[in-house]
Amino acid sequence: MPEVAIIGLGPVGLATALGLAQNGHQVTGVDVDKARIGKLLRAESPVYEVGMEEELNRALSRKRFLPTPDITDTSPKTEFFFLCVGTPSRADGSMDDYPIAKATEEVAKVLPPDQRPIVVVKSTVVPGTTELIIIPILEASGKPFGVAVNPEFLREGHALEDTLRPDRIAMGFAEEETGRRLRTLYESHTCPKVETNLRTAEAIKHVSNAFLATKVGFANEMANLCQRLGVSYDEVMKGVILDDRINPKFLVPGVGFGGSCFPNDLQALVAAGRGAGYAPPLLEAVIRHNERQHLEALRLLEEELGSLPGRRIAILGLAFKGDTDDVRESRALLLARDLQDRGANVVGFDPVASRKFRQLMPDVHLAGSVAEALAGAEGCIVQAEWQEFQELGAEDFLKSMRTPVVVDGRRILDPERMEGVRFRRIG
Ligand code: UGA
Repeated sequence: MPEVAIIGLGPVGLATALGLAQNGHQVTGVDVDKARIGKLLRAESPVYEVGMEEELNRALSRKRFLPTPDITDTSPKTEFFFLCVGTPSRADGSMDDYPIAKATEEVAKVLPPDQRPIVVVKSTVVPGTTELIIIPILEASGKPFGVAVNPEFLREGHALEDTLRPDRIAMGFAEEETGRRLRTLYESHTCPKVETNLRTAEAIKHVSNAFLATKVGFANEMANLCQRLGVSYDEVMKGVILDDRINPKFLVPGVGFGGSCFPNDLQALVAAGRGAGYAPPLLEAVIRHNERQHLEALRLLEEELGSLPGRRIAILGLAFKGDTDDVRESRALLLARDLQDRGANVVGFDPVASRKFRQLMPDVHLAGSVAEALAGAEGCIVQAEWQEFQELGAEDFLKSMRTPVVVDGRRILDPERMEGVRFRRIG
């Protein structure tokens, strides 16, 4: 089994590392964040992910996974280096290539000269990044290497499950020898596999995310419209999805998409388009629309309550969605900010994301439970799809809220269980 190194241990890197360790590979995981490495060595997952800690424990006890802050700890027998570092946006929305370039420089220093290792780009990068940034850095090392682009389609919160059972694998490479070795690495996976060139593999990831984000944006716009036109979005969709060209997944309207991927990747793709002389108007509109979608929840709240000053409003769910502690670009941040601007007293609750939320918005009061958040509240907005919230019924809201106004911003509550609640949702 080839030895592998993973550079960057966020959800993508960690899930990749543990997936490969489970398949029998010897994996070294490198991350510059020493606190993160410390946690990993104690078998604590630095991110909340279903099943991650158990798998981490298993990989560590079998000595298949070595987390380290020092890239020189990678074995001289390493055959694959996976680049899994983040690709954040610059202020103008374009992809900041510094982290991936820096990680590539570090890899270039430790490339074993006699292995012809393959550097695999898993980070989401705009088309052209591997050819224009990564390959020149590796070439400057003077050592032999292969290069591939192998994007990751996993969902945060379910990173491990999606890595172990991917729906497809995209492999971009320029040399047949690289393709052959990559195929061997993934031979146990039976899902469809696409082989293509480097730029196309980079684009497959971006176009997938752009489509999904646009789909969510479309659902939100149709729900906003349905509401104004006096029709039920759910009833409309029952007829729409009978068309087998229209897949119902990712058509759930709500307060908008968040996370480190959709908002960031859309911006990066728009900026890349602009750089190439085409500012994509549809994607620009999707971004703009999403930045305002949470206001629909505030509109419904105000329709029920009138003005908000002095009123206690609970936000259930602070992470950008359920099953994660990631608060990046969470709509809860926008909701809390705008509620505060309108004079409301905001109280938030999340099963796991409170600590990370507090770092970004220290002035929001955080409750330790749903019941505590709802106690005395005059309004509640459900912002993330946690199972715990899906199970709430009218009695949970009626017993402690001062005014039982509930806006379901993720369409997870059962309207039939809301008798007595002033229940609203978008669409
Ligand atoms: C997304 C993609 O789904 C993954 O395939 C991709 O690998 C990943 O980005 C990435 O680029 O790394 P993720 O950001 O984890 O995954 O979250 P999603 O489950 O896609 O949800 C994104 C946002 O859209 C959330 O805020 C969610 O609440 C919202 N959403 C999703 C809706 O509002 N409606 C829907 O119908 C679906």
